[in-house]
Amino acid sequence: MHNDRRIVNLALIGFMGAGKTTVGRFAADQLNFDYLDTDEMIQSRTGRSITDIFTHDGEPAFRQLEQRIVEELTARERTIIATGGGLPANPANLASLKTHALVICLWASPEKIWERVRSQTHRPLLQGPDPQKKIRELLTAREPAYKQADVLVNTDIRPVREVAIQVVHQFKLAQSWR
Ligand code: S3P
Repeated sequence: MHNDRRIVNLALIGFMGAGKTTVGRFAADQLNFDYLDTDEMIQSRTGRSITDIFTHDGEPAFRQLEQRIVEELTARERTIIATGGGLPANPANLASLKTHALVICLWASPEKIWERVRSQTHRPLLQGPDPQKKIRELLTAREPAYKQADVLVNTDIRPVREVAIQVVHQFKLAQSWR
């Protein structure tokens, strides 16, 4: 890790269904940090749902909103940031997060992701005719970005609570190195 980084926040990246929200809330509780979710921020700023933004304005418009939120996050301290699954695919977003946060990726296999998201309907990217194929394609495309995280935690093999404990542990470890 470069010494010019100021690790005051913890950012969770990873695919849809990796557990960022649940793990993030638990970690915020444990560390006594604030909790923020980039999708929630976009929804509260625009007063619209993610699906509505995707449907009426398109994905590029959503990605622009996402990037604006990422820039705002540089002013945060003691915050757990749960990010939308596609956010780190933009290298500028990942680079920005790394200036102030330890970036932890929650990793999940396409099979596990499908198991977790199949009954949900709020993710526009998975509402097409073959969501399993879409998961595999997006995961393959995003894997290089996810793997640039400081820490990778496999969520396939652990209950969510254990993942959260691991995340908190990794954050404390990163703090103690400084
Ligand atoms: C997306 C993931 C979603 C949300 C949007 C697009 C993606 O967030 O940002 O539907 O591109 O993977 P979650 O990862 O929190 O579901």
